[in-house]
Amino acid sequence: MIYAGILAGGTGTRMGISNMPKQFLELGKKPILIHTIEKFLLEPEIEKIVVGVHEDWVSHAEDLVEQYVSAFADRIIITPGGVDRNTTIENIINRINEYKPLTDEDIIVTHDSVRPFITLRIIKDNICLAKESDAVDTVVEAVDTIVESTNGEYISSIPNRAHYYQGQTPQSFKCLDFLSLYNSLDKEEKQILTDACKIFVIKGKKVALAKGEYSNIKITTVTDLKIAKSMLEDE
Ligand code: CTP
Repeated sequence: MIYAGILAGGTGTRMGISNMPKQFLELGKKPILIHTIEKFLLEPEIEKIVVGVHEDWVSHAEDLVEQYVSAFADRIIITPGGVDRNTTIENIINRINEYKPLTDEDIIVTHDSVRPFITLRIIKDNICLAKESDAVDTVVEAVDTIVESTNGEYISSIPNRAHYYQGQTPQSFKCLDFLSLYNSLDKEEKQILTDACKIFVIKGKKVALAKGEYSNIKITTVTDLKIAKSMLEDE
């Protein structure tokens, strides 16, 4: 089975709005999270969309599903997220296991709730590549020159830009592979390896590149929200 795991367990500290995590803010006529869920509803291969939200916001998220996408509520599961991204993924996978015991073939397409401009093409490419690779990371080619500085004062190197990409989401992999790799890490490694695909890379697994889009932005700051609002007019 193919599942979507929507990561909505953060509180959006960099947005600087204290009363509500950014994924619940309105973008046009509906919350950011609903835009994101709607994109995944377009893919018929996805059995369930499992949304990991901060435990204080579970009932709010359930209300939003009822209000905006009630016709599809049977395809959506809301579950408490975790203290960091990977714990949210772990909680989502454990919830999938409660829904239907996991098999080696079960794939999860994990996506930031605050990337509402994901396209169906990106979702389909992730599913396709996840079937034939150990994991998939969605990327765009780096547009700016990458400058490395190990001390923050002087440049230590300027690598060849052609070899560099910027990571987006989705990140996709087999549910059971993620659990076994993640659980093989010690406490310190878990704190450092906050990117799920980095865990696969470090463990020597093959992580395929899926082509992202420059429009697949992550809403992190108030400026991003303004950009997202203007992008909405083009959709
Ligand atoms: N996320 C999550 N569980 C966490 C932390 C983050 O599911 N414990 C999710 C966020 O909800 C978001 C995505 O991961 O959709 C990308 O993270 P980021 O933009 O860093 O979100 P926040 O952690 O909410 O933001 P900030 O770092 O500004 O606090």
